[in-house]
Amino acid sequence: MTEIEFDQQHYVSFSYFLERACGIVLGENKQYLVRSRLTPLVKKFNCATINAYIDSVIKGNRQHQTAAIEAMTTNETLWFRDGYPFKLLESPILSQFAAKNRKFRVWSAACSSGQEAYSIAMTILNFKKQQANSFRAGIEIIGTDISEEMLQRCRSAEYDQLAISRGLPLQFKADFFESTDDNKLRLKSPIKDLTKFQSFNLLDSYSSLGKFDIIFCRNVLIYFSADVKKQILQKIAACLQDDGILFLGASESLSGLTDKFTMVRCSPGLYYVKKPL
Ligand SMILES: C[S@@+](CC[C@H](N)C(=O)[O-])C[C@H]1O[C@@H](n2cnc3c(N)ncnc32)[C@H](O)[C@@H]1O
Repeated sequence: MTEIEFDQQHYVSFSYFLERACGIVLGENKQYLVRSRLTPLVKKFNCATINAYIDSVIKGNRQHQTAAIEAMTTNETLWFRDGYPFKLLESPILSQFAAKNRKFRVWSAACSSGQEAYSIAMTILNFKKQQANSFRAGIEIIGTDISEEMLQRCRSAEYDQLAISRGLPLQFKADFFESTDDNKLRLKSPIKDLTKFQSFNLLDSYSSLGKFDIIFCRNVLIYFSADVKKQILQKIAACLQDDGILFLGASESLSGLTDKFTMVRCSPGLYYVKKPL
């Protein structure tokens, strides 16, 4: 057997591990994906074959487990993804929260390399520039992800020209970024100060996170089973304020998963408001 081959039994065992560890469901025919994502790790950790690597993951090697989860996550993201959530924040949503006498808290759950959390921060700071008296009790934006590698990128707040070219409006680029010596762009401190990042697995308890006014949970539920989606949405509802708002990805919906939200249709886009208890 060559190092890149692995058998069906190991595929099934790895699928069980992955779903238990982080919710990601592989399904039946993703052998090619596992092979292409795990092959670099087989080499990196000097294992003989993918089978041997998977054995080590199943037996509990934490380093191999973490690397396998990192490898299997899909981190695709861009600035102001889908457009409408940020337009809706600009108007009317931010005005609804701007005068409240509690800290305004927004959570970018599954934030990948940070573009979503920073797009939220830029939208809020832009709003605040025009309405200086808004959010007087403070603002906190938290980005979380299961991937340490993504969180490091978030915290560095530096993006290469390719990442910058994906969805960042010129005005925001001019207002909120500075150049680095190695031809990247770095977010300036007002945006960085507003935005904190922490490691968090969406399968875990949410009780340490506190209450949020708005939660962005976009383009991550698609990887999970219906049961896991239901559990996550239950926990999201519990950590939203009574008038809190949830944004999902453009191709995602709550249909058949929870009755804890009311859909608000807009033109374009939609969002969900937590129903009163
Ligand atoms: C496709 S990205 C979505 C990024 C961003 N929300 C967006 O819409 O552009 C999905 C992210 O979910 C993260 N992820 C996957 N499973 C997770 C879990 N169980 N807990 C937390 N994050 C998870 C991945 O690491 C990845 O960065």
